[in-house]
Amino acid sequence: MALEKDAGRFPLSAEKMPKHIAIIMDGNGRWAKKRGLPRKAGHKAGAETLEKIISAARELGLEHLTVYAFSTENWKRSQEEVDAIMNLLRQYLKNYFKKFIKDDVRMDVIGDIRRLDADIQKQIIEIEQLSMEKTGLFVHIALNYGGRDELRRAMTKIAQEAAEGRLLPEEMTEDCIAGYLDTAGTPDPELVIRTSGEERISNFLLWQSAYSEFYFCDTLWPDFTKTELEKAIFAYQNRERRFGGR
Ligand code: IPE
Ligand code: IPE
Ligand code: MG
Repeated sequence: MALEKDAGRFPLSAEKMPKHIAIIMDGNGRWAKKRGLPRKAGHKAGAETLEKIISAARELGLEHLTVYAFSTENWKRSQEEVDAIMNLLRQYLKNYFKKFIKDDVRMDVIGDIRRLDADIQKQIIEIEQLSMEKTGLFVHIALNYGGRDELRRAMTKIAQEAAEGRLLPEEMTEDCIAGYLDTAGTPDPELVIRTSGEERISNFLLWQSAYSEFYFCDTLWPDFTKTELEKAIFAYQNRERRFGGR
């Protein structure tokens, strides 16, 4: 919350607004630990922050927001923590998203949802269908998502199509590959933000972030604010993107 003193300090250019921001929402556990609370309290606070940041993203006029909520590696955590995250997800899908749909927000999930409990899969499919026609912000939730697993699943499909004679090796363009990923149809994120001071990608959007700008901040995810988001966009707008050219 310390950053609220900075409110209004980051004037953003409308023309240079990114269309797609992706966020690695990290630091829930440390936030809870600092307060002597169980880790699940950190995840609850993190879910509340996500609600605020979705509203902020709408107000800022972003087209796509992708958030890393649960990785293919996060199953290694204690059963108690995994259960707590899954229960929060249930509540989230029930409450927040129904509310957001009213606000013209579209939602989908990237990642392999087949490993999630059947009731959660059902809720996800329902919300994806309910929000299909919405034209405002498109929120992509990464759940049981891993960039390598996404590529593996895409390659499995590609190999199948090739084996059945429906795809030729010379048709394998970059666009064709992108079309087999969970993010098919979504532009690559111009900006990837990671909170909590860690500076690594942790298997997030490996293909899609090839030319993204990265922004790291020390703020723990539950403390992240709209002002901090504006600060990240401001930093992005003041960078020179070259894409390998001169
Ligand atoms: C991010 O916070 C949420 C998930 C990975 C589900 P963490 O739980 O990783 O928080 P830290 O990194 O332990 O502080
Ligand atoms: C990345 O955070 C995954 C999510 C934010 C969902 P982690 O906390 O799991 O990543 P590492 O273990 O620090 O790389
Ligand atoms: Mg972490």
